[in-house]
Amino acid sequence: MLKPVKIVIIDDNLELLESLELYFNEKGYAVFTAPTGEVGLGLIKTECPDVVIVDLRLPGMGGLELLKVLKTDGIESRTIVITAYQDMETTVQAIKLGAFDYLHKPIDIDLLDAVIDKALGEVPETESIKVVDDEFKENTIVGRSHELKEIFKLIGLLSAVKTTVLVVGESGTGKELVARAIHYHSQYSAAPFIAINCSAIVDNLLESELFGHEKGSFTGAVAAKKGKLELAGNGTLFLDEISEVPIHLQAKFLRFIQEREFERVGGERKIRFNARIIAATNRDLKEMVKKGEFREDLYFRLRVFEIDIPPLRQRKEDLSLLVEYLVKKINRTTGKKIRQIPMAVIERFMAHDWPGNIRELENVLIKAVVLSKDDCLHESGVVDLLQQSSDPHAESLPLLSLREMESRHIKYVLDHCQNNISQAARILGITRPTLRSKIKSFDLTVAKR
Ligand SMILES: Nc1ncnc2c1ncn2[C@@H]1O[C@H](COP(=O)(O)OP(=O)(O)OP(=O)(O)O)[C@@H](O)[C@H]1O
Ligand SMILES: [Mg+2]
Repeated sequence: MLKPVKIVIIDDNLELLESLELYFNEKGYAVFTAPTGEVGLGLIKTECPDVVIVDLRLPGMGGLELLKVLKTDGIESRTIVITAYQDMETTVQAIKLGAFDYLHKPIDIDLLDAVIDKALGEVPETESIKVVDDEFKENTIVGRSHELKEIFKLIGLLSAVKTTVLVVGESGTGKELVARAIHYHSQYSAAPFIAINCSAIVDNLLESELFGHEKGSFTGAVAAKKGKLELAGNGTLFLDEISEVPIHLQAKFLRFIQEREFERVGGERKIRFNARIIAATNRDLKEMVKKGEFREDLYFRLRVFEIDIPPLRQRKEDLSLLVEYLVKKINRTTGKKIRQIPMAVIERFMAHDWPGNIRELENVLIKAVVLSKDDCLHESGVVDLLQQSSDPHAESLPLLSLREMESRHIKYVLDHCQNNISQAARILGITRPTLRSKIKSFDLTVAKR
């Protein structure tokens, strides 16, 4: 006979302990329960369980401390941490300390089962995802893939050290979200997080925008003004789309990053620059350096630490959690009440390539939620949406004329770039004026961002 699965459950809520014990006993597991971390640790040492479930907050030794002890003592265990809070900080910490996974209370027994199956190396077969409108926290990074857990760890590490960080990833992968997470988990979280979109600033305004100006330094400078560098204070300056800084301005960036001081336009006083820099890009800066489009010295200054966020298609195991989280978010903003997402929908999503990553997923879900007539996201409702949003080159190619194909492809790229003409022109390998004339000739509508 196969050995039964051994499980140790540690929680000070005795009722919960008892019901979990009953439930897992019925599944044929060998269950050991403990009301405190100390007793639990003893059980882990004597029983060597396959899986440990531990509450985060316990009188005495809590879940995190238990993880610490297991780690320092070199005791291998698949530990699932249960928390009552959607709190990324403890999550980051728990994962850092080697937790296998974390779940939120109230416990969804199906989810717990699924996680345990995963811990035991089995792939579960579920029929639908239930959306429970429990506590919802914005700006949470959701995911369970190995890649994302590594990123959680990096966020944990980098939030503690005020170093420059370069976040790299395709469009819509969550670069800004990661930048914000680093900021809000740092000791400077109360200080400002100032974002600059480097592709959106006009050359001659850039300096004043960044460095500020003194009164009378140019026509229109009627009063002195602080720039973003000053406004960021001790916080974070987020340089989004850093690749788009024109080459002739890159020296100015290098200077304040390197020397940590600057002057306002028209001023002489040196002002210290204290903020942490987090830069983001969806382009290959190394390649740009090779082509002479990006300064090598600036590149090295920026990539002291690099966080590479993989595209969604490479971490599809994050999909079901993301869908659940995003539907919850969309329920809130739209007032809809979607409660069920059939597995068939998740399977459709799994088969999709997601060139626009999580942003594309969010857009598809928003449409699907808005169009649904009951509390379920039906498969029929997402099929067309996925087709519309899909890469025209990925699967069976419809028989189209070249002109029609070109028009659709341009539309597709524009959607992907949220109508950012420069970005779209770059992807398409044509100049902006050419793109504009094509948009006109194909009669495509491009709403301003
Ligand atoms: N892991 C995640 N969990 C939850 N939401 C996410 C996750 N990743 C991305 N998102 C959401 O997807 C959207 C896009 O993320 P974000 O703006 O951070 O991407 P980006 O990489 O900066 O994209 P771009 O290059 O297009 O600016 C946001 O609404 C963000 O909240
Ligand atoms: Mg962004």
